[in-house]
Amino acid sequence: MVICMITIKSEREIELMRKAGMLVSLMHQYIKPYIKEGITTKELDKLCEDFIIKNDAVPTCKGYQGFPATLCTSVNDEVVHGIPSDRVLKNGDIITIDVVIGYKGYQGDAAWTYAVGEIDDDKKYLMEHTEKALYEGIKMAKPGNRIGDISAAVEEYATAHHLGVVRELCGHGIGREMHEDPEVPNFGTRNTGPRLKPGMVICIEPMLTFGKRDVCQLDDDWTVVTLDESPAAHYEHTVLITEDGYEILTPRLD
Ligand code: MF3
Ligand code: CO
Repeated sequence: MVICMITIKSEREIELMRKAGMLVSLMHQYIKPYIKEGITTKELDKLCEDFIIKNDAVPTCKGYQGFPATLCTSVNDEVVHGIPSDRVLKNGDIITIDVVIGYKGYQGDAAWTYAVGEIDDDKKYLMEHTEKALYEGIKMAKPGNRIGDISAAVEEYATAHHLGVVRELCGHGIGREMHEDPEVPNFGTRNTGPRLKPGMVICIEPMLTFGKRDVCQLDDDWTVVTLDESPAAHYEHTVLITEDGYEILTPRLD
């Protein structure tokens, strides 16, 4: 038997999660101007770690199951969990910055994909429609709906736009822990799965590819890449279920 324990957050907890989420948004806004040709992913990681610590918050990924950094930096065919390194960003790259920040014991989590300089039309298309797939999923986040409604909305949008849906990784509940129940897959069937209730907080995070959906993990035990080396994009928000819909706790400030 699989037991699914979805926590319902109190008003006090929601207020702390709003603050954690806002720090995630502010960090993305802070790092955006640095994402340019010539910078290394390790330099981006250091800037973000310093930003988080200055704000009395915690870089939750650092040390999580041995992950060595604050950010996941995933470039081009890297889908998720890229490890910051001496890799230098080049004009035409895309890079996903994914971060989890803890504030007074509560977590906020958001990823989005950035263009480095001028990118080609394929990458523009991939980025635009991966972000739109996320919002299609978010629109289904309201009391009475079920996780499968979100999953199906993301999958249908992605498939209609001929993008690959990565199935090995999925969204998740979030709260005191960065990964809580329920799982939020990016593919599925409407009217299935746990029912949404006010006070639940979930991360919705489509990972879409311009080519086939198959992925594998590199020898570093973290980086997930597309098998056909096609580019991938990843957009994620932390979303609170409210009485009549949703509130995005990690709003884009740009
Ligand atoms: N944002 C990522 C997620 O949604 C964070 C996990 S990276 C790890 O799962 F390194 F911390 F594992
Ligand atoms: Co996440």
